[in-house]
Amino acid sequence: MRARPAAAQTRTILLSVILVSLLTAACGQATGDEPDVPIQDPSLVAAGEPLYSAECAECHGRDLRGTDQGPSHLSIIYAPGRHVDFAFQRAIQLGSPQHHWSFGPMKSVEGLSDDDIAAITAFIRENQRIQGFEPYPP
Ligand code: HEC
Repeated sequence: MRARPAAAQTRTILLSVILVSLLTAACGQATGDEPDVPIQDPSLVAAGEPLYSAECAECHGRDLRGTDQGPSHLSIIYAPGRHVDFAFQRAIQLGSPQHHWSFGPMKSVEGLSDDDIAAITAFIRENQRIQGFEPYPP
């Protein structure tokens, strides 16, 4: 009667290994430093790039990494889970008070249509997806 307990033990060990890997995978996804950013529509991203350069890069940087006038959009605080797409629309249309940084407030950006804003947001998200995030605070 030695074979059965040994087999049962092997099964228990195997189950534990599987369970631990599943848990690790789940935790990695929930708390990882690099949140998942969905792939963006390439035509929106392409339309967003020149708009971003023209309207946002002066403060947020052509490479999105910020300037002495505004923060980096690759900061982890601008990940989709922390600033949803609507936050981008709101910041563009209404501006933003100074609250996460010490650059001063952001004024609203005039003259952008809803399509322009969607394209700019897709451009930022695609860069976040490809380049990953910077820590906050930096
Ligand atoms: C004249 C400078 C300036 C320009 C131009 C500018 N921003 Fe900003 N933006 C800022 C500053 C400064 C902040 C940081 C406010 C804070 O959190 O302290 C900011 C914050 C933001 C935020 C975060 C708002 C929030 O809810 O916390 C978003 C999103 C944003 N900008 C998007 C954009 C986009 C998109 C454009 C171009 C259409 C743009 N900004 C143009 C200066 C600027």
